[in-house]
Amino acid sequence: MTMPSTLQRERPAKPLLEVRDLHVAYGKAEVVHGVSMDVRAGEFVVMLGRNGAGKSTVLHAISGLVAKRAGSVHFEGRDLSHASPRAIVQAGIVQVLEGHRVFHTLSVEDNLLIGTYARNPRGDRSQLDRIYRLFPELADRRLQMASRLSGGQQQILAVGQGVIGAPKLLVLDEPSGGLAPIVIDRILEVAAELCRSGLAILLVEQLVEKALRHAHYGYLMETGRIAAAAFSHELREGDLLHRVYLGGAATTLPVTIEKEPAG
Ligand SMILES: Nc1ncnc2c1ncn2[C@@H]1O[C@H](COP(=O)(O)OP(=O)(O)OP(=O)(O)O)[C@@H](O)[C@H]1O
Ligand SMILES: [Mg+2]
Repeated sequence: MTMPSTLQRERPAKPLLEVRDLHVAYGKAEVVHGVSMDVRAGEFVVMLGRNGAGKSTVLHAISGLVAKRAGSVHFEGRDLSHASPRAIVQAGIVQVLEGHRVFHTLSVEDNLLIGTYARNPRGDRSQLDRIYRLFPELADRRLQMASRLSGGQQQILAVGQGVIGAPKLLVLDEPSGGLAPIVIDRILEVAAELCRSGLAILLVEQLVEKALRHAHYGYLMETGRIAAAAFSHELREGDLLHRVYLGGAATTLPVTIEKEPAG
């Protein structure tokens, strides 16, 4: 198993996803208050934070699934701030939603083909073999109904459905939800492997230790804001996470507190 470059000191220079001063509200209640974050080319970025911090909301705003009150999202230099979810997928951002959502009454293979529709309305079977090589557990069950898969297999299917669309950025919202530790490890290792093959990853995860083991860089959200941004090894070594997750008092802040860009 390959570990990430745990002593990384510099992020890749090439920006891929650039979120700036994002505000999102549900009705009148603003829950994301000016989030700025990046994913650079080739990076595995994790977003951490307690329940209700606004992590999923940020992901949904990136994917165009909720409206942005203010702020911008650029991808490969293109302004996607007002793009439709479909246009965002076509630009190369694919999100795997929370809760391993697959179509239970469809076969594994038909679920995978759905992941190709945004680029090819008739479905693109040519990508299936690549996915089956990546996920042999799906190859063995290609004609089974998704309802007959275990929770872990359904999550792998959901990831496969995202990967088959050949995204440039794969966004994963708590893929560990309700799964056994061994399945979680497998999913995170697959994500890391995809990253090594050139796909950028943005992961939201409650399993902080596991996530930081694979990620290069991390953002910590607290009540709708970015509280800290740092390399994974810095987040692991500092006591900030302890403070946020366990409510203890931090005497020092060993990580870089992100400054909003001026102007
Ligand atoms: N559809 C919605 N309508 C109204 N409020 C919502 C909606 N979705 C989320 N919220 C609220 O927005 C805030 C942020 O929620 P969000 O789901 O983004 O948090 P999260 O960090 O993903 O949490 P979790 O770790 O539990 O998944 C919470 O206060 C939540 O109650
Ligand atoms: Mg969430």
